[in-house]
Amino acid sequence: MGGELLDIAAARLREASSLFVVTGAGISAESGIPTFRGAGGLWEGFSFQSLATPEAFAEDPGRVWRWYRWRAEQYGECLPNPGHDVIAQMEAAIPEVLIATQNVDGLHRRAGNVNVVELHGSIADMRCVACERLAPFPQGAIVDDPVPRCAHCTAAMRPHILWFGETYWPGILEQAQAAARQADVCLVVGTSAQVWPPVALALHARDCGAYLIDVNPEVTDLSRTADAHLIGPSGTVLPELWERVGR
Ligand code: OAD
Repeated sequence: MGGELLDIAAARLREASSLFVVTGAGISAESGIPTFRGAGGLWEGFSFQSLATPEAFAEDPGRVWRWYRWRAEQYGECLPNPGHDVIAQMEAAIPEVLIATQNVDGLHRRAGNVNVVELHGSIADMRCVACERLAPFPQGAIVDDPVPRCAHCTAAMRPHILWFGETYWPGILEQAQAAARQADVCLVVGTSAQVWPPVALALHARDCGAYLIDVNPEVTDLSRTADAHLIGPSGTVLPELWERVGR
């Protein structure tokens, strides 16, 4: 990673009064959570069409639930890593901060962030397919029917996670857009930039004047257009960056 670029990015962060952060699966990789794409990625062994679409749920809700229960168990064993910790420190130090995450693992909140928009939902919640009430995601082993029922209307519950082919929940993108618009710095961490709305948020921030930093060990379409592509794992790069900021 170029030290000069790191210094320039650090200077921008030092002066920032408003920060907009977009994270993807890469920030949780060092917590032991597999990313979606690439070698060893979550989608490598599974087809998302059979697990993460409304059609898959309609066809076999038990299969979908078993997969999400397995993922929830994995997440439960993971802890925030130094990359998450730095983003929590940023929220404590910079007046206006919003984290828009594509991750459903809850690790930003566990690291101490409060201003978090979970663009793709949360593994901590489930939602009734009929009345849309939320309830906590079930814990422990599946005993009988893997599909939980709504306590209010007895319809099937589903994970409160955005699936392929679904639109974002009302208000979510607007909230993130407002933060993107006023940001002095937009920090993108650990996303392959394959899913458009989060990329569009980062580009919106840049178009509105934010300095765009991308932290990723690999080159992506977004890192190519960033003002600073800081190359490396976020668990190392973010602590180095924050140390240079010295806030
Ligand atoms: P991906 O799995 O597509 O991409 C992960 C990115 O993280 C890649 O660009 C890696 O190079 C990078 N990466 C890996 N290790 C890293 C590390 N230690 N530090 C920093 N970066 C690292 O994940 P997302 O871009 O988050 O959506 O995927 C977006 C969405 O696609 C997900 O939210 C999910 C998925 O389908 C839904 O399920 C709706």
